[in-house]
Amino acid sequence: MSLLERIESVKLSALNELRGAADLSALDRAKGTFLGPGGHFTMLLRELGTIPREMRPDAGKALNLAKQEIESSLIERREELELRATLPQGPTDVTLPGRRRGVGRQHPLTLVTEDIIRAFRKLGFVVADGPEVEDEYHCFDALNTPADHPARDTQDTFYVDAPGRPLLRTHTSSVQIRVLKQMPPPIRIIVPGRVYRRDNADATHNPTFHQIEGLYVDRGVTVGDLKGTVESVFRELLGSDVRLRFRPHYFSYTEPSLEIDFSNALVRKLGKDWLEIAGCGMVHPQVLENAGCDPEVWSGWAFGFGIERIAMLRYGITDIRLFYENDVRFLRQF
Ligand code: DAH
Repeated sequence: MSLLERIESVKLSALNELRGAADLSALDRAKGTFLGPGGHFTMLLRELGTIPREMRPDAGKALNLAKQEIESSLIERREELELRATLPQGPTDVTLPGRRRGVGRQHPLTLVTEDIIRAFRKLGFVVADGPEVEDEYHCFDALNTPADHPARDTQDTFYVDAPGRPLLRTHTSSVQIRVLKQMPPPIRIIVPGRVYRRDNADATHNPTFHQIEGLYVDRGVTVGDLKGTVESVFRELLGSDVRLRFRPHYFSYTEPSLEIDFSNALVRKLGKDWLEIAGCGMVHPQVLENAGCDPEVWSGWAFGFGIERIAMLRYGITDIRLFYENDVRFLRQF
């Protein structure tokens, strides 16, 4: 066999052994066999000095290339084996109790959100979801909010610098349209989620916060259903002494539109009689139509409120920014 042929054959068996090494020590042994002081490859290198001068360039080049291939395969296999060594050896029993207690706890916003979801589930609502990066159609147009409406002002809305003018949803109401288009009524959903507005952070505002949207569409739905549902949920969340007051208001996607004020001992402690807590109303026939539902057949109501506000009331928190600072001294209290 010529030297070139032997280089190729030593290279192939080196690659074979390195790639087949079952663990790190087998890999080290294979490395020694080929690249070590007396290794097969080292011997070939030595032979280079003994062959006729005119054959040396070709043989030298072949040796270099082979060595590079062997070395990169060595590195690759080493990384694979090192990664494998960090993984659990046997199957993991995920049902075993944790070794440490109290590694963390749920964020107050998560706690409140889950309580809200639980209260609505009892009444037959399911959780729906939609994208945070929305388009103008779902966030505004389909909800009857025309292009010259102040809510669309760039002062309020974060736009994304991309084709199609996407935006960060300013409310979870955008999901109403998505759900209505996806499944036929009857629909009973709530949508907890993050929303964005160009508010400067102060004690009660933050550029991102959370809302819960509710939507109920069926035959013959009335404002009475809306009041009953909202009252039942707020009593469950904030105590049986809760009183609610519904005031006329304006939203482009409901008719009539109402605002809900809320009162209980917690509110009085803040020195107020009533606190504005949610917007709601009967879904506007045009909105139903935009989403492909016949308003002659279906009617519905919708509401939206801020989760932070509920959590602040419930826990007596006066600065919204505490929710996002991740200060464990704050988080440990829940
Ligand atoms: N989207 C409104 C907001 O962000 C809240 C709201 C009001 C939601 C009335 C609704 C509704 O579904 O019917 O302030």
